[in-house]
Amino acid sequence: MDNKLLDGLNKQINKELYSAYLYFAMSTYFLETNMEGFAKVIKEQAKEEIEHAKKIYNYLIAKDEKIILYQIDAPDSNWINPIDAIKSALTHEKYVTKCIEELFKLSRDINDYSTEIFLQWFITEQVEEEDKFKTLLEKMENVQNCDCEVIHIDRNLKLDSEYVE
Ligand SMILES: [Fe+2]
Ligand SMILES: [Fe+2]
Repeated sequence: MDNKLLDGLNKQINKELYSAYLYFAMSTYFLETNMEGFAKVIKEQAKEEIEHAKKIYNYLIAKDEKIILYQIDAPDSNWINPIDAIKSALTHEKYVTKCIEELFKLSRDINDYSTEIFLQWFITEQVEEEDKFKTLLEKMENVQNCDCEVIHIDRNLKLDSEYVE
């Protein structure tokens, strides 16, 4: 595999694991503010990010490529309120989308067909991820001035979430 692409994929493993770290921190923040619904949904998100990292890891193993596990940074977690936290999640997902698109473009430019096809899954996944946080943010922005309504959203998330851990 092209060195630049391989390095990018190894760094993407790190970014997915950082995402998991970020969402574990965010889930903790919501638990501390007694918002169990948000905490559950975000913890579920953290688990998904670990799956994303594993997907890239398994792909590189299957291709007999060298895995490099870079250090994972501590997440930035100074959120001032729930809406700020969800906003930062959306910003982060947009950043990840950009990273995936760059890898996709690189694999296309150098005619690495299997990596291009592999990354298609991530391109689609990022549309879902951004949409998830955008929808949540819109709901929260609509009720911005009423804390009781945010608590109501939290309660619904707790009921909606299939995640039981
Ligand atoms: Fe991800
Ligand atoms: Fe994500």
